[in-house]
Amino acid sequence: MSIPKEKIEEVRERASIVQVINEYVPLTKRGHNHVGLCPFHSEKSPSFTVNEEKKIFYCFGCNATGNVITFLMKKDGLAFPEAVRALASRYGITINESKSGVPDEREQIYSALKAASEYFSGMLRAAAGDPAKEYLKGRGLTGELAKRFHIGFAPNKWDGLFMFLKKKGIGVDVACKAGLLVKKDNGPGYYDRFRNRVIFPITDVRGRIIGFGGRALDEKSLPKYLNSPESPVFKKGETLFGLAQAKEAVSKEGYVLVVEGYFDLVALHRHGFLNSVATMGTALTTDHIRTLKGYTSSIYALFDSDEAGKKAALRGLNLFLNEDISCRAVLLNQGKDPDEFLQLAGPDALREAIVDAPTLMEYYLGSLRARLNMSAPEGKKKYFEDALSYLSKIGNLAERGHYATIVASTLGIGVDSVYDAIKGAGNPGSLKVKSGFQARSLPELTLLRVIMKHPELFSPEVETAFEAFTDDELKTAARAVAGLCREGVAVSGPALLERVEGEALKGSMAELLFREMDGFVEEPARMVQDSLKSIMNRGKVKTSTQDMIKLLEQMGKSDIAIELRKRIEVGPSGKRH
Ligand code: UTP
Ligand code: MN
Repeated sequence: MSIPKEKIEEVRERASIVQVINEYVPLTKRGHNHVGLCPFHSEKSPSFTVNEEKKIFYCFGCNATGNVITFLMKKDGLAFPEAVRALASRYGITINESKSGVPDEREQIYSALKAASEYFSGMLRAAAGDPAKEYLKGRGLTGELAKRFHIGFAPNKWDGLFMFLKKKGIGVDVACKAGLLVKKDNGPGYYDRFRNRVIFPITDVRGRIIGFGGRALDEKSLPKYLNSPESPVFKKGETLFGLAQAKEAVSKEGYVLVVEGYFDLVALHRHGFLNSVATMGTALTTDHIRTLKGYTSSIYALFDSDEAGKKAALRGLNLFLNEDISCRAVLLNQGKDPDEFLQLAGPDALREAIVDAPTLMEYYLGSLRARLNMSAPEGKKKYFEDALSYLSKIGNLAERGHYATIVASTLGIGVDSVYDAIKGAGNPGSLKVKSGFQARSLPELTLLRVIMKHPELFSPEVETAFEAFTDDELKTAARAVAGLCREGVAVSGPALLERVEGEALKGSMAELLFREMDGFVEEPARMVQDSLKSIMNRGKVKTSTQDMIKLLEQMGKSDIAIELRKRIEVGPSGKRH
């Protein structure tokens, strides 16, 4: 049931990568490229570059790269065939799936979930749904909100959904995989997983239903919430409840509010905070953060003011430092969760708490200081040590400076001593390693770039020079280029990226493709000749010079020998004095 290769090619050819990406990331034209803010890391000035002819994107900041299909996979969390199909239908390309035309398993699961959601919302509207309507009203939920979140009701029956799905022709195997039915332990048969619960459909960013959360109508029934089990389409740790409804508001407001509970989220919407999502009970994961990074670089997590809430705030700190994204802790001093806070204190109080929210690091430093006896040397020592272990993880100099200043003034020491200590704690300055092929052997780089742009200049001599490359990464890249040239395949972005392995190398390759050809003033053929000469001669030159140095030394002319030695130490691409 795979998509024919030619169809994949056709999709890649016909889809406009600029048009597709522009719907996620506003792009502006700059020269041959389109640029915008990278959706895969947080940044203030655009280094995300898309090129229509090369049909690839590349970020000069984080090295992310790929084509129109991989973009959709990353951004919408689609599997490869789903991304291809989405593009095909958009560009009017018909894919005749081979064999029976049976949709694949994921598609079947999506259909089952969609059908189940229709059943649940029908049941909420029906008379059987009266207790649920009553419950929702009691929690302040209006009909309008229920509609926005497609809230439903699973009646107190063992086979309500079972019968409904059967009538719809949905198989029990699919329904089980979707987490809707459960196989009986003893004996044959299946029963409904969700019974007598208010149902929250959980969707992906595009609004497709991937699972459900069900709230018991009374406090005695356990568990309080029952969620769909993980399935091929539902990964709890990656999913944020309400993101489909929130994403536009998040982009507009420039930040996202994160809570844990379904009702907290709905309460935020009720009070006009539309830029909100919920993690469904778990702490924020790296996957959550990566998903959110596609929409904003600023996260405001709402924490209860009790001990558990404070602990939860601190647990998140490492995660955020590693992901290089800003997170602030909104501390709620009333009620046990955001829902109750809004009932007790109202939306204006929440707005104030948002304005006052410290960054997680500020919050951490504050609570560290409060916890320790800062007038004793032991307390100061501990404060310094603990603070340093986090400070040294902050890559951005300005940001690190901000916290170094706080630490210095808390301790009453100079900020320079803080910097010195950071250096000793394992140099973070080198964390951000320069990516790509910059600062590599210049003749090798030049030869590769010219051949990529002018494959007609490829020749056996060029290939020999490729093999003589001393830089292993460049050599791998060069071999991929040589392969394409030999096979007479156009040297295009996607073709090249397919032939090298590893994200890092793919990134470097994309950078080569994108970097403006600044030194391209000379004739390409001439540049090939020059770089060929210098690559092929460098070994010889060095050995013959070394022979000469030895000779000079034997002749007692050590001053000239020393001078010569200095010159070859500079290396073939360095400046000669
Ligand atoms: P809480 O226990 O804090 O409940 O769980 P809540 O959201 O305030 O629930 P209400 O207000 O009493 O209805 C927070 C979130 O954790 C998940 C749910 O997503 C819930 O909204 N959770 C909680 C579960 O998945 N299962 C549970 O049994 C409990
Ligand atoms: Mn609650």
